Amino acid sequence: MTAFFDDWDTPVRPRAATTLASRQADSPASTATASRPDAALSATDARPGAQAPVRAADKRIVNGQGDINQLAPFKYPWAWEFFLNANKNHWTPLEISMAQDVHDYHHRLTPAERHVFENVLSYLTTSDILAMRNIGLAVMEKMTAPELQIYQARQVYEEALHTWTYQHCIESLGLDQQEIYNRYRVVPEIHGKIALANRRLERVMRADFDLTDRDNLHEFALSYLFFAAIFEGCWFYNGFTPIFALQRRGLMKGTAEQLQYIMRDEVLHCAFGIRTLRTLIAEENLQLDPAALASLWEEAETAETAYAGYLLREPILGYSAAQHMGQFRYIANRRARQLGLAEPYPGAENLLPWLDEQANLRKEKNFFETRVTEYQTGGALSWE
Ligand SMILES: [Fe+2]
Ligand SMILES: [Fe+2]
Repeated sequence: MTAFFDDWDTPVRPRAATTLASRQADSPASTATASRPDAALSATDARPGAQAPVRAADKRIVNGQGDINQLAPFKYPWAWEFFLNANKNHWTPLEISMAQDVHDYHHRLTPAERHVFENVLSYLTTSDILAMRNIGLAVMEKMTAPELQIYQARQVYEEALHTWTYQHCIESLGLDQQEIYNRYRVVPEIHGKIALANRRLERVMRADFDLTDRDNLHEFALSYLFFAAIFEGCWFYNGFTPIFALQRRGLMKGTAEQLQYIMRDEVLHCAFGIRTLRTLIAEENLQLDPAALASLWEEAETAETAYAGYLLREPILGYSAAQHMGQFRYIANRRARQLGLAEPYPGAENLLPWLDEQANLRKEKNFFETRVTEYQTGGALSWE
């Protein structure tokens, strides 16, 4: 591994306070300005009806009372950095050749491998729509700092792009769309994961959901934790990993490359969600109920176990249900540590050590076989 990507779970490198955002939020000068609003707006403060300047210190993750339509001064400069980084991972599914995948799917995959491939795709198609609805409809409207909402607006687009990517794979391979898309409704082991996520989402989308109520705030924090740390932070990796296992054997490489681009977005989504959640918990002096957390992990593990059992009824070469679940527990521990919480599965081992490397887009590519996946715009991505 290179220094570029030593830790793909902490994709936004903490920077020295040299960016505009950092300077505005952290410098003594900005603090002074924030504490002396009368010095900040000489052109307008004398006019009748002029509003006091927005102060960074007044911003909050939720329940803020200030003007939400003004980006700077930043209170959460790291959120702006996430937005800038997200904009360096531009691609569309049309740019990646699927020609070899059509051949592989019809002529090289075994029936067990086709079963895995199709069901992974089937699960993912529905998952990304849920992820989009969660951020766009349940989370974004509750945020009261624009720098958070702006990254989340980008995330909403990226989830839509991911859905387009799956649709492109389904179309390219000539799969029966109706059957693939409806599979989560008829296969209980896929439906279990979707239903669990839907329940979390519905609880925080009620019209009477008021975050000044402490119980609701706790419910929202758990839901956000579920989507960022489990749904995106664990389940997507487990969703992608069987395809990466095929890719390692030279199969379905176009699809796998599409998923590598998606993985790059998801790394940011997960990291952003965890950072936001940690900040929310500190800001609101919130204590997450250990029993509620334990049941969150337990529900997720139960649903994932059923899913893995269905997906890998027969293990495929290099990948089994036991490995899938081992990796779930190992990644779940990592997410808990990132959240400052106790590990739910102490002692879980990294059964698929190649995953971090496989997920990393920076690897040797044959230029004539595929487009270079290190593609980015606007300068180098900051991955740790
Ligand atoms: Fe996604
Ligand atoms: Fe996501």
